[in-house]
Amino acid sequence: MQLNIYKDYEALSNDAAEIILAAVKANPTAVLCLATGDTPRFTYKLLAEKAIEEKVDFSGCSLIGLDEWVGISSGSEGDCRLFLERLVIAPLNIPASQVHLFNGLATDMDAECSNMDQAIAAKGGIDLMLVGVGLNGHIGFNEPGILTDLYAHVINLQEITQSIGQKYFNEAVAIKQGITLGFKHVLQSKKLIMMANGEKKAAIMQKAVEEEISSLVPASIIRTHAQSWAMLDEAAAALINLQILPDDVVVGHNFSNS
Ligand code: PGA
Repeated sequence: MQLNIYKDYEALSNDAAEIILAAVKANPTAVLCLATGDTPRFTYKLLAEKAIEEKVDFSGCSLIGLDEWVGISSGSEGDCRLFLERLVIAPLNIPASQVHLFNGLATDMDAECSNMDQAIAAKGGIDLMLVGVGLNGHIGFNEPGILTDLYAHVINLQEITQSIGQKYFNEAVAIKQGITLGFKHVLQSKKLIMMANGEKKAAIMQKAVEEEISSLVPASIIRTHAQSWAMLDEAAAALINLQILPDDVVVGHNFSNS
């Protein structure tokens, strides 16, 4: 895994947007899996602006949803689908027929999971996946202790995920379960970017980057992917000691050295 450290959230978001843009310039039919959450919000804003400025056409791309809250009405504030429609699908003009998102209200969740697995397989896999990191180290809704040999699945959310998740909603909601791509999808994606910003992510990012790889810190598993990048702003990287990095972490961009 390459570790890139940026001066601030703006620089981090700008580079992440450039990477997505470059991937689509190189492959106009790229299969993208772009996370929801506060972390990539600015990346998507910049991406939409750059796509217009540079006339990059996303209409041949596919979008795969990473995860969704179970039991939340589609289109309500806080819903992952609404986030992606507003920030990614509409601004980038990705046709609905090429968008595959989980339905958190599906009556048959097993079918919902296998439909997603089949959609990804039919497209030849995910070309570029961008994920954020939860305060407990989760990736998508792969919570601490998760098995790494899972495709899409439904999972009980930890208390911390349920309580932090309230920030996305206008009113208190019961979000006890999530539906998510599994680590099989994460690790089979051709390129993988993990993003984190802000002081609040510093402790978990230190564990993810410095400590032994463990499913107790799902973000650490990203290090086993051959084409992966951890992109952090200085605040999220503040506790990482660059002198004692494990062999599977290589420093790429480090603004303090440039
Ligand atoms: P955040 O969420 O980007 O809103 O911090 C990250 C996550 O929980 O995966």
